[in-house]
Amino acid sequence: DDRAAPARDLAGRHVVVSSGGTREPLDPVRFLGNASSGRQGAALAARALARGARVTYVRAHTEVPDPAGAHVVPVSTALQLRDAVLTAAAGQGAQTGADAVVMAAAVADFRPAAPSETKIKKSEADESAPVVELVRNPDVLAGLVEARREGRVASTTVLVGFAAETGDATGSVLEHGRLKAVRKGADLLVVNEVGGGRAFGTADNTVVIIGADGTERAVGPAPKESIADAVWDAVVMRVPAENP
Ligand code: CTP
Ligand code: CA
Repeated sequence: DDRAAPARDLAGRHVVVSSGGTREPLDPVRFLGNASSGRQGAALAARALARGARVTYVRAHTEVPDPAGAHVVPVSTALQLRDAVLTAAAGQGAQTGADAVVMAAAVADFRPAAPSETKIKKSEADESAPVVELVRNPDVLAGLVEARREGRVASTTVLVGFAAETGDATGSVLEHGRLKAVRKGADLLVVNEVGGGRAFGTADNTVVIIGADGTERAVGPAPKESIADAVWDAVVMRVPAENP
């Protein structure tokens, strides 16, 4: 193997990576979920560890092992993920806050308004079906941006979002991505095209890393580890140098 040892350019840093898909309970045995495998989140955590970071891995439901060496915080719902990410980002007690937070998790936008405490049964008497009322979940990334603005998260913390987009009649993948980058208020938005078997559950990914400063870098098609390294490259450029 003639590859150079990875740069330890995240040594001394604490980064938070959220990963996997949240599950929103309908009853004790059923949930609304999504197709996220957690592969990109796991690759982000693994590459940050290889580059010397301390990693808090806020992990919802994934199909891949947790990277060895990460501090794993298992969560299930969007509300649990929100609490875990904000706590890790802000720091608590002796734990320092985060130098960067990368939101690779697929967070449910909605949850059932009133999950049943008992298993939902179908009617014996008729063919009726329940109608599930949904309510909005908080936007975790928007919450981080707000927490940073209000000083609950350090002003130097770099905030990174991921956006899975499909092009549609109103715009291309990149056009939707540019608009979302502005709307989200994060420092970086990693946009990838989904649909047609792309991105979800696959080893390779093609993304554009959009910076709030107007920069755009296309990466891939490449393994999710290479995408992860490109994201950390962009983060490292934005993390202020450590005090001597
Ligand atoms: N995200 C989040 N909290 C949510 C939903 C999404 O923090 N409740 C984060 C995701 O982890 C991701 C980014 O926001 O980093 C973009 O997610 P996406 O679903 O593409 O954006 P939304 O703002 O939810 O827009 P859309 O209506 O297109 O789903
Ligand atoms: Ca969404």
